[in-house]
Formats: sequence, C-alpha cells, structure tokens
Amino acid sequence: MRELFKQCNACKGCELYRSRTNLVFGVGNEKADIIFVGEAPGEQEDLLAEPFVGRSGKFLDEMLREIGLTREDIYIANIIKCRPPQNRDPKPSEQDACIHWLEKQIEIIDPKVIVCLGRIPATRFIDKDFKVTKQHGELIQKNGRIYMGTFHPAAILRNMNNKILMQGDLAKLKEIKL
Ligand code: URA
Repeated sequence: MRELFKQCNACKGCELYRSRTNLVFGVGNEKADIIFVGEAPGEQEDLLAEPFVGRSGKFLDEMLREIGLTREDIYIANIIKCRPPQNRDPKPSEQDACIHWLEKQIEIIDPKVIVCLGRIPATRFIDKDFKVTKQHGELIQKNGRIYMGTFHPAAILRNMNNKILMQGDLAKLKEIKL
C-alpha cells in the first residue's frame, strides 16, 4: 500500500492535483473486511489528508459506533483523491482518471463488503443508474464481494429524516458473516 500511496501522490492524471493541499489517499485497517467508499475530499479532508474528518466524518463515526465499529475496524477511501475546488461534484472525467487508484486499494485489501456512501460511488460500483432513495440497503453479490449503497453522511445532515434509514442499512452489516 505504501508504494501505491507514493505513486498516487505523484499522480497528474487530472487537473485536481494543482489546487489540492494534500492527497487524501485512504485510512484504516488494510486487512479490513469492510471498505467504506465516499466521493471526494472536502476542505477539512484536504487540510488533514484524511477522508471523512469534517462534519460528515463525525457523523459517519457516530453511525459506525452504533453498529460497534470504529475506524480501526474498517478502511475508508474516496473515489477522488484530491479535493475538487469549492467542493464541486467531481467531473466524470476526473472520476475516470482517479478510480483505478481505489480499485488497486480494493485489490490489496480484498474486503468482503464494499459500502458506497452516496450516489456517485454507488453508480460506479453497483449500478450506473443507482437511486439511493430506492436502492439503499440492498445487498448485492458481485465479483465475489457484497456491495451496498446507502446515503452519503452529508445528505443525512441535510435531511435528518433519512438517518433512521441509514441506521437500518448499516445494521445489516452486522448480519453478514465475515
Ligand atoms: N465527503 C466525502 O465523500 N468524502 C470525504 O472524505 C469527506 C466528505
């Protein structure tokens, strides 16, 4: 993983490396059974070089705690490794240029479960037309792994009514025999 980090840190596959402060590669347990995949780093992540450390991250930590997990139990990474300016949505071309780094991280960790936080990772890993409101929490077997799409923590912070739905989705992770 160290070698992959070094290569990724030197990547100029799209223009986002120019405006970032830090590469946000991924953190956690490199032997984890579960990987959580987000979209792209925000301001705090860019400053601290770690995914999900801002408001969304605090909320994600709370959701993990509720199912008895900490960051040491899982691995967390984003599709996009460099912060898009003003937190705009990453362009499809930027996703295409970056996703191979995440795919290599997944190969190295070889998790049993991949949890996609929000529409963008779910459309990349589960179904190109994935609708979070309709398909959240479904467990999909594919390529020897189990995939689940759920809400992005930032979306829950905008609409707390959906918190209970995300709690229900994540509770299913406890049922999976790992
Ligand atoms: N949102 C994401 O998708 N990823 C982060 O790392 C932080 C916020």
